[in-house]
Amino acid sequence: MIRTARLDDVPVIRELINHYAEQGKMLFRSQSDIYESLRDFKLYELDGVVVGCCGLRIIWADLAEIISLSVNENYQGRGIGRALVQACLEEARQLHLPRVFTLTLERAFFEKSGFSVVPMKTLPLKVWSDCVRCPKQDCCDEIAMIKEISAD
Ligand SMILES: CC(C)(COP(=O)(O)OP(=O)(O)OC[C@H]1O[C@@H](n2cnc3c(N)ncnc32)[C@H](O)[C@@H]1OP(=O)(O)O)[C@@H](O)C(=O)NCCC(=O)NCCS
Repeated sequence: MIRTARLDDVPVIRELINHYAEQGKMLFRSQSDIYESLRDFKLYELDGVVVGCCGLRIIWADLAEIISLSVNENYQGRGIGRALVQACLEEARQLHLPRVFTLTLERAFFEKSGFSVVPMKTLPLKVWSDCVRCPKQDCCDEIAMIKEISAD
């Protein structure tokens, strides 16, 4: 049910992300941005319908970011969000990435997947490249959360 994204998935990924971006819950992504990062994305498909998406973006040799996690409102509470995060964590493990972080408003959800809150300033500067196009850059309300990936 979880698969990699294809070019013809771009419109549905954009809709999944920007639906919540309009509510201030996550960062907007343009179609162009999604094409460029398409290979980062995993999708959750149910009966041929894409109902969730999530990306794993490599930042550096020891760090990757969970980006653009979104589950269609009609399909929430069924373990789809967790399954998408787990798929990204498994990919990180296969890549030998020791740490994955996310910037989020959903603390309780990520704690259930083993993430812990860390001070924003512990993350490297490169992490903030997205902030320049965030409408909340001067009043950021997100928290940083990290999970260490075990090698075995
Ligand atoms: C956050 C989101 C991805 C969760 O997806 P989901 O498929 O509904 O979550 P799951 O069903 O996999 O939930 C896994 C666990 O987290 C809990 N959980 C889910 N959302 C939660 C929330 N907002 N607050 C607290 N706990 C939450 C579930 O109860 C479940 O707990 P359990 O193991 O005790 O049963 C989804 O609500 C969403 O798309 N939200 C809008 C976009 C967003 O905020 N994305 C995050 C950007 S970083």
